[in-house]
Amino acid sequence: MAEHDEHSSFIKTPQQLITVILLAFLVPILSIVLLVQLVVDRPRADASAMAPEAVSARLQPVGKVEFGAAGGAAAAKSSEDVVKEVCAACHSAGIANAPKLADKAAWAPRLKLGLDGLLKSVVNGKGAMPPRAGTSLSDDELAGAVVFMANQAGGNLKEPAKK
Ligand code: HEC
Repeated sequence: MAEHDEHSSFIKTPQQLITVILLAFLVPILSIVLLVQLVVDRPRADASAMAPEAVSARLQPVGKVEFGAAGGAAAAKSSEDVVKEVCAACHSAGIANAPKLADKAAWAPRLKLGLDGLLKSVVNGKGAMPPRAGTSLSDDELAGAVVFMANQAGGNLKEPAKK
């Protein structure tokens, strides 16, 4: 009896046979239906996610760099900021013979030009220094920077009255 069991099918009743036959049809058909759906269906993500605005928002670069004054053109920079951020690029290391910051010997002969003369050099450019030192700063801002630089190097210039 035990031997006979080993070789017998696990289908023992007509109901089991019917179930197996049905499953033999249904399982492959269901698989095919699901596979076809997988291939044919579009991604079912939120429909608005594919809107042009949403797509371009996702395509934005990770960061933006903005140059210039943070507060817009209206916010004038302090003279110290201008010198540190713009003028120091050349003047702290003395690039291309720029008179170094706080170098009294280098500034002494130039200080004789007075604020007007020095400002003129900056506005028009001099030697390797481009006009307006390559910036779009206003005359007032440039004058303030000149005063700050000159006074660091032993000058005694007065900040001009703001217009
Ligand atoms: C690109 C480099 C560079 C930058 C930026 C720069 N300078 Fe100069 N600057 C020079 C050089 C070079 C000289 C020397 C020019 C010469 O005498 O031939 C000079 C000279 C000067 C002088 C003396 C001018 C004279 O008549 O003797 C002043 C004042 C001055 N710079 C102010 C400034 C101020 C203010 C800024 C910032 C707003 C600035 N510079 C930014 C390169 C630079």
